[in-house]
Amino acid sequence: MIRLGVNLDHIATLRQARGERYPDPVQAALLAELGGADNITCHLREDRRHIQDRDVLALKDTIQVPLNFEIAATSSMLDLAIKLKPHAVTLVPEKREERTTEGGLDLVRNKPTLTSAIARLKGAGILVSLFVEPDLQAVVLSHELGADAVEFHTGSFCHKMAEAISTRAQKSLVEFLVDAAAAAHKLDLQAHFGHGLNYSNAHWLQVVNHAEEANIGHAIVARAVFVGLKEAVSDMKRLLNDPAHRPY
Ligand code: PXP
Repeated sequence: MIRLGVNLDHIATLRQARGERYPDPVQAALLAELGGADNITCHLREDRRHIQDRDVLALKDTIQVPLNFEIAATSSMLDLAIKLKPHAVTLVPEKREERTTEGGLDLVRNKPTLTSAIARLKGAGILVSLFVEPDLQAVVLSHELGADAVEFHTGSFCHKMAEAISTRAQKSLVEFLVDAAAAAHKLDLQAHFGHGLNYSNAHWLQVVNHAEEANIGHAIVARAVFVGLKEAVSDMKRLLNDPAHRPY
């Protein structure tokens, strides 16, 4: 089964747009759990544009499923994570000017920072995942750095998938994810996927052997506006796992 991590950042985006107390990510998390979420993900950005510190504390105290806390590997974020002790931390690159996380980590350039961040987090008993591009070099480096998991950035896959007009082209795009997940599995790294996954492309993960988890936010929150969060989550869970949706 592919676990579904529901990213609630955009519940907070809606709240912050008006500076109100609603909608509340904790309330959303409980509905997501009822819809079958296997974990809850949130990203505390340096500029606090959506999720706030108090949201993360409240989520950790309230949810029944594991919390996956996304952060940049800065010392203040690491201090916070170690105090909070979520089930998992996903380390992501972060640029203030970007609209969302636009690419995977540069593992070569950030090797010293990531090595010490991973050691600190693992020392606190937290599972560590690295957000990387789906390529073999990133997998090997993540293993060398001591990560437990890699989350493959699916942004480029999703864009190309939207433009692929033949099944053949779609199959060849998914092969990159298949190969990356196989390489991760070989090195005992969990293979997670995230970014840009939606109701038109997430079912392709069914053909990726060793895909363990998908973290999905924007598409689920957008669909929830029309059908409600519980249904939006259970629809996505079916796409990821129900053989009726397997593309081939
Ligand atoms: N995984 C990671 C590491 C992310 O940074 C994001 C975007 O914040 C997501 C998953 C979710 O992406 P989306 O909102 O496009 O589903």
